[in-house]
Amino acid sequence: MTAEEYRVKIDAALAEYFKLPDTLPQSGLAKSMRYSLLAGGKRIRPMLVLEFCRIAGGDPEKAMPIACAVEMLHTYSLIHDDLPCMDNDELRRGKPTNHIVFGECTATLAGDTLQAEAFGTILRSALSADRRAACAEILAGAVGLDGMCGGQYLDTIWEGRDLTEKELTEINSRKTGALLVAACQMGVAAAGGTEKMLDCAGHFGAAVGMAFQIRDDMLDEMSTVEMLGKPIGSDRQQDKHTYMLLMGRDGCEKTVNELTEFAKKILGEAFEDTAFLCKLADALSVREK
Ligand code: IPE
Ligand code: IPE
Ligand code: MG
Ligand code: MG
Ligand code: MG
Repeated sequence: MTAEEYRVKIDAALAEYFKLPDTLPQSGLAKSMRYSLLAGGKRIRPMLVLEFCRIAGGDPEKAMPIACAVEMLHTYSLIHDDLPCMDNDELRRGKPTNHIVFGECTATLAGDTLQAEAFGTILRSALSADRRAACAEILAGAVGLDGMCGGQYLDTIWEGRDLTEKELTEINSRKTGALLVAACQMGVAAAGGTEKMLDCAGHFGAAVGMAFQIRDDMLDEMSTVEMLGKPIGSDRQQDKHTYMLLMGRDGCEKTVNELTEFAKKILGEAFEDTAFLCKLADALSVREK
């Protein structure tokens, strides 16, 4: 399957969630969740779930709820990331951010609800109980204290000061890397893959995740609002210390390339059919949005 074919299938599956009738009093909350969930997005994380499931010998169709769950979780992280108390951004995926349209209270609750529904979606899926539990555990670890939320906390408390490379890596491996690692590993877990496959998927996800955030920091300075669908210069405005500040554009490009080459190489240690993921890693390393 091509990336575009995956994206179409993922979008169609996501569109089936949270369709509450207007007559229900909480339908406004569902609307705000669907607003952000269906606003577009590259769908990288769900794609990783489905492809890792496939190359680990599983049935990607059965992993679709897991793919949707990671996108729900990711969308929650974006809604909260944009709030005034965090990055205070007004544009996301080419549209006004959730709190601009629905207000801060509903946006906060939309994020909270998407998080709960992500776990519910995994636990209600048709996978065997042990595979559902494995996926939920992986996701919980990737989001909690040691994962995305922990990273977002560090990102916030360390605003406005110089960071060492170690500190920056500490932030980014958690705020962005952890969920990409989880997407890769949940794909393997949904297929009932081996420990070796889980490890390998984790190394791939960590390297791609680090490259992904470095590229994100580059685009925050180099891209345009039209192309990116989110504001340019948001990091500088919030006084974030990013990879661009630490190593400049050339250093960023070099590091992204090295991480991408490493990611592609490591895949071969546990998987055979790696063409799609290698192509995806390459495409992400030069992505423009
Ligand atoms: C943006 O993620 C936030 C980061 C972790 C850098 P994406 O670049 O995957 O955003 P969407 O899902 O395509 O909108
Ligand atoms: C946020 O990183 C990562 C998340 C956990 C959402 P950024 O703050 O750089 O993401 P963007 O640039 O707003 O998408
Ligand atoms: Mg942020
Ligand atoms: Mg942000
Ligand atoms: Mg950014």
